Amino acid sequence: MSTRTTLITGIGSLVTNDPGHGTGPLGLLTDAAVVIDGGTVAWVGPAAQAPAADERFEAGGRALLPGFVDSHAHLVFAGDRTAEFNARMSGQAYSAGGIRTTVAATRAASDAELEANLAGFVREALRQGTTTIECKSGYGLTVEDEARALRIAARHTPETTYLGAHVVAPEYADDPAGYVDLVTGEMLDACAPHARWVDVFCEQGAFDGDQARAVLTAGIEKGLTPRVHANQLTYGPGVQLAVELGAASADHCTHLTDEDVAALAGSGTVATLLPGAEFSTRADYPSGRRLLDAGAVVALSTDCNPGSSFTSSMAFCIAVAVREMGMTPDEAVWAATLGGAHALRRSDVGTVTVGARADLLLLEAPSHVHLAYRPGVPLTAAVWRAGVREA
Ligand code: NIG
Ligand code: FE
Repeated sequence: MSTRTTLITGIGSLVTNDPGHGTGPLGLLTDAAVVIDGGTVAWVGPAAQAPAADERFEAGGRALLPGFVDSHAHLVFAGDRTAEFNARMSGQAYSAGGIRTTVAATRAASDAELEANLAGFVREALRQGTTTIECKSGYGLTVEDEARALRIAARHTPETTYLGAHVVAPEYADDPAGYVDLVTGEMLDACAPHARWVDVFCEQGAFDGDQARAVLTAGIEKGLTPRVHANQLTYGPGVQLAVELGAASADHCTHLTDEDVAALAGSGTVATLLPGAEFSTRADYPSGRRLLDAGAVVALSTDCNPGSSFTSSMAFCIAVAVREMGMTPDEAVWAATLGGAHALRRSDVGTVTVGARADLLLLEAPSHVHLAYRPGVPLTAAVWRAGVREA
């Protein structure tokens, strides 16, 4: 069966993320062209050598890069937490307990409301260049509410994560062990068919190291792959546990000892940094520089959620990572694209190479550096997801 081909030409600067294609780790090409065939990239190279195609799109010297891969988001929820944010900006501290406010609103919402909210956020992210997005449960905390969150999420992304262990459900406030039994038993049975990943918030006020280990191990036994909310608010065992269990990622990584950094650097576990969370909780940022210099693989993600980081903007995360976390623009753009793909163990996204999914972001700018250089400016000129023009 033949498919229609599209030639995108006149690309001033192309981020391929394939060092074999161009200069530096981003594999940068100038005066480039890309051919899309159906849902995949069929050709990449100098514009002057581009083959003919059914359709032609003139990039006019602008920059093209892989669509963003947002590997950490919490999008199945109802309500918002404006008052909590407002209080925090007046001096109140952030704590894990705020999650329960959203749990109450989410439980009270209909399936249709939750799905409409989720679809709205996925579209909002897509319009800003995010072509792959992960989505966690974690605002239901009953067997039924967690399972429905994942059922709904799975209709919008294959990257679904079971986070029944977000906080102890209010009904189990006096019996956290009983809640861990539920999360590792009946709730896991109901959720595993709709999830690819298992996650746990390993933190003071949420789950300790032993509880987190029980949750992740049970998930692994059910065929899920672990990822961990680790070392966000305090130092703790989350990162070491993630590395020990071969988790795809340890997320947040805000409070790291030298041993934690070394463990990440010597592992296949990606350190996923979520600057929106530090921004919105007025906390100190983790050092991307420290992790990169040690040799760790770093991803950047939004952590989009109504409590600690209500942004879907990967461009915002890039700008903050560059300004506040010691990362270069090249490193931050890599972390937001191929870094995210590594965190989700995906080889089909995060690059612009032959055979990759045709997920592309055209910027209203001559260079990917503008993502950090022009903070807060909407720079999306066009977005293709699996070869389909979406924005
Ligand atoms: O990643 N850390 C745990 N979960 C979210 C916060 C969720 C909330 O406050 O509602 C996070 O920051
Ligand atoms: Fe999170």
